[in-house]
Amino acid sequence: MSAALRCDQTRAWSNLSTLHRDADARFDLRDAFAKDHDRFAHFSFEAEGILADLSKNLIDRGILDALLELARECSLEAQRDAMFAGEPINVSEKRAVLHTALRAPPGDFPFSAEVHGTLNRMLAFAESVRDPASGIRHIVNIGIGGSDLGPQMVVGALSGFIAPHLDVHFVSNVDSHHLEWTLRGLKPAETLFVIASKTFTTQETMSNAQLARSWFLSNGGIDTRKHFVACTTNVAAASGFGIDTTFGFRDWVGGRYSLWSSIGLPIAIAIGAERFRELLAGAHAMDRHFRDARIETNLPILLGLLDVWNRNFLGFASRSVAPYHQGLSRLPAYLQQLEMESNGKRVDRSGNAVSFSTSPVIWGEAGTNGQHAYFQMLHQGSDVIPVEFILVREPGTGDADAHRKLLANGLAQAQALMLGKSFEAALAEKTSAESSAEREAIAHQRSFPGNRPSTTLLIDALNPRTLGTLLAMYEHRTFVCGALWGINSFDQWGVELGKTLCNGLLPRFESGDFDGLDSSTASLLQKLRQGDPT
Ligand code: F6P
Repeated sequence: MSAALRCDQTRAWSNLSTLHRDADARFDLRDAFAKDHDRFAHFSFEAEGILADLSKNLIDRGILDALLELARECSLEAQRDAMFAGEPINVSEKRAVLHTALRAPPGDFPFSAEVHGTLNRMLAFAESVRDPASGIRHIVNIGIGGSDLGPQMVVGALSGFIAPHLDVHFVSNVDSHHLEWTLRGLKPAETLFVIASKTFTTQETMSNAQLARSWFLSNGGIDTRKHFVACTTNVAAASGFGIDTTFGFRDWVGGRYSLWSSIGLPIAIAIGAERFRELLAGAHAMDRHFRDARIETNLPILLGLLDVWNRNFLGFASRSVAPYHQGLSRLPAYLQQLEMESNGKRVDRSGNAVSFSTSPVIWGEAGTNGQHAYFQMLHQGSDVIPVEFILVREPGTGDADAHRKLLANGLAQAQALMLGKSFEAALAEKTSAESSAEREAIAHQRSFPGNRPSTTLLIDALNPRTLGTLLAMYEHRTFVCGALWGINSFDQWGVELGKTLCNGLLPRFESGDFDGLDSSTASLLQKLRQGDPT
């Protein structure tokens, strides 16, 4: 692929700056809806079972057209095609980016035979563990980052599909309390440990894997080979650890894109082979949409363009994700890694510093919980933070009436952000004020500015297929932002320095050698060493 233009090198970028300057002070969502009764129809898009309502964002037709022009000038489609074609778009690691191959039908990609061979073996193993006759009741996944967040989020989201005799646990933190508290009450004979690590070198995972093995042996466990399996690209290291059963994958699967690979083993054990295939099929449907749909109707592209508008022109530094479904309570954490580790970069693919902002902070909570915590700030705080609501139409196994309450809450929050409440309306409300000055002061506190943007994503039901589609949409949207910004979304050098410094500090706990350390680190280390059993 020939070098694509970076967003700020395009004509569309300057057009967008002009549009922003002209529209900024005047754009009002309430007016926009009043002027265009079909605004919802004009700014909502549907694909593969996801309805994305963008109409409550601070955009008009001119802005959307200019954003689409930006996509064209940045050769977004060619960049996307290069990813699907397996070109080494992860330039700093000289790797292809082919997580899409993991969910493609047999024959679609060059690595297809290998991918499907591993998938079939992994699913057969998952089914054998799921069989109550296996005696396994607890799956303990030991992994961190992409080897934890994706599978943990999916297992939580699909709780209703988990075999009733199984409990699936996730241990990530090197703080050994995490493992200790998880293992309380578990029996080695009923427990299967899945050691999930792309590299099989990650400090946290290796430390927990060793502690898990000690726990297993010192609590009467007999055959570690039957109770420890590994999911990794580093089969040699897993076998060095004493694990015989290993499910591999290739280095072209990034950690945060790996739940579709053998890293998805705990998901497959929890929901079974057939449903795991449905998860993959849902993701593949979104892959096809992203690859084939025109940019004007392409969901990941439209959402990515909106993200760029919000971040680079409106200056919004964060995005709050509010899934109105308890099953999706770990989605914000998963998206934090997906978006912030992918696009939290300050230089482009050629190593030049960029002069614009990149990844926003992604954060959030399941609705309605967030409403009783930080929504106050979203409505009346000094910063404008776009909110992404995720609504699921069907109640699933939940109570239908409670589900309507949940949905009404989500809709109402989006409405409140947009409509706000005027000073005059607040002044007309009954209060305990004793003077007109006090009444006015209270009315100022009770009024809402409104005109605060939100996006609503609506899906029919939460099941393996729809979840797969939703997650693949988020992956591609992250790709779109990175491609427009001209950055490499597939490396993560920013986590390396801390790891190196940690390895340098560890021996100093024992040696007490503080040489060359700054006074803050040295003094804190000295205090931490007091009472250290070593
Ligand atoms: O430290 C960051 C990171 O490399 C993530 O990108 C990755 O998902 C995580 O660590 C875990 O890595 P591994 O799967 O190799 O243990």
